[in-house]
Amino acid sequence: MKLGFLASHGGSNMQAILDGCETGSIQATPALLICNNRNAGALERAANAQMPSVVLNSKTHPEPDDLDRAMLEALRDAKIDLVILAGYMKKIGPKTLTTFSNRILNIHPALLPKHGGQGMYGMRVHEAVIVAGEKQSGATVHLIDAEYDEGPILQQISVPVLPDDTPETLQKRVLEKEHFLYPNTLAKIARGEIKLP
Ligand code: GRF
Repeated sequence: MKLGFLASHGGSNMQAILDGCETGSIQATPALLICNNRNAGALERAANAQMPSVVLNSKTHPEPDDLDRAMLEALRDAKIDLVILAGYMKKIGPKTLTTFSNRILNIHPALLPKHGGQGMYGMRVHEAVIVAGEKQSGATVHLIDAEYDEGPILQQISVPVLPDDTPETLQKRVLEKEHFLYPNTLAKIARGEIKLP
């Protein structure tokens, strides 16, 4: 199983998955990183893991259709089986979405279907969880479809929301669990314990 990553920023989730592949707990080969941001920390992580990377964005491809095609071509050239969104802040084009239907995974830092959707990313998610007075938050690994955060859920993990939590402290607690949940989900997919539609 060859993994292709899409990331925009630090890529700590990608790192957790790279580490799992390295130790053999995930039976998969990290094969490509596509980044929209040429300053993303994820690029350095890919280089350290000797995984090829490419920057594709509206500067390299001003036409959205061309960008979609270039992404699809890069994924096909690298013979990617599964696309892993690891903090990717852009929408994926329709050709890539269709070709990799049910083969694009995302992690969201809350218990979907709550606190997801357009505009719900980064600290905003944790702010919304606290404002809603939730006692539990967590992380969700799910498949991507054309809508934000709406594809089938594969696995979730909970964390408590504590009375004195700030969005920052909650984010930290959730992110630690993300680093367990995402690799764990991929390991289960690789072993056939989670079957993709
Ligand atoms: C994570 O919180 C993830 O849930 C969300 O984007 C963030 C990415 O963080 N989709 P990192 O780049 O993996 O550190």
